[in-house]
Parts: sequence; structure tokens; C-alpha cells
Amino acid sequence: MLDKKVAELLNEQVNKEFYSAYLYLDFSNYYYNEGLDGFGNWYKIQAQEERDHAMLMIQYLQNNGEKIELNTINKPDKEYSSFGDPLNFGLEHERYVTGLIHNIYAAANDAHDFRTMQFLDWFVKEQGEEEKNAEDLIKKFNLFGSDPKGLYMLDNELAARVYAAPSLVL
Ligand code: FEO
Repeated sequence: MLDKKVAELLNEQVNKEFYSAYLYLDFSNYYYNEGLDGFGNWYKIQAQEERDHAMLMIQYLQNNGEKIELNTINKPDKEYSSFGDPLNFGLEHERYVTGLIHNIYAAANDAHDFRTMQFLDWFVKEQGEEEKNAEDLIKKFNLFGSDPKGLYMLDNELAARVYAAPSLVL
């Protein structure tokens, strides 16, 4: 049994992670529609990772005998007026998610819920990587994205990303 507040926050986070998957799928669809299949691929895999995050949280809650409540996932409502828009929205979103994870971590700390803190350690590290990936993508896009050949090569690079299952196993 987990601390009530911590369990509630984790349950809410399941929804946020599925929303992240939805948001990145929306980015992916936008890029495929624009003919940038590499960017589309990169965000499709990002969406799969977000689904994995949600599933890990569900598994953790189940392992601790907690009830899962699945709520409505909001519709992504971003408008894209340039190829760089999703990249910037993505970084902003990852920073927001980092704040959410830290908030759950702080609640677990307050409740002396050391098990959840240990579980969340993986997510704290993952958020650092996600923010770095989003920042790197923006840097590369700003360097090469305004040149058609540069954009083509960057798109090819992003097409090479392949899905890998999360390193955290519960
Ligand atoms: Fe589930 Fe991109 O954080």
C-alpha cells in the first residue's frame, strides 16, 4: 500500500504520460503530412516511449495493490506554423513533465515513501535525457533546418531512430 497522495499523483501521471504520447503522435502526424518522414518517425517513437512510461506507472501501481483509474485523454490542440514549432513545444512539454515528476518525488519524500522514490529515480534520469534530446533537436534544426539540403539530411538522420523497450523492468 502506498501513501494515498502519492498513489493519486501517480494515477494522474498515467494520464499525463498518455497525453504526452498523444501530443507526440500529433507532432508525428504533422511531419508525415509535410513529407518529413524522419521527423515523423522520431516523434512516433517518442510517442511509444511515452506510452511505455504510462504502462510502467500502471504496473507499479498494480504491484502495490493500488486501483488504476483511467481518465479522458485531452485532445492535442497545438497549431504548427513552421517545422520548428513541434520541436519547441516538445521541449516546453518535457520541462513541464519534469516538474510533475519532481512534484511526485517530493510528495513521496514527505511521506517517507522510499519505494516510490526508488521507482521514480529512473524517471528523474529519463527526464534529464528527454530534455537533452529535445534541446539537441532544436540546436540541429536551428543550424541546418533553414537549408533544404540540411533539412533533408537531418530528416534522414531522424529516420534512423529505432524503438527500444525501456531499461526499467518491474
Ligand atoms: Fe514521459 Fe517525455 O516524459
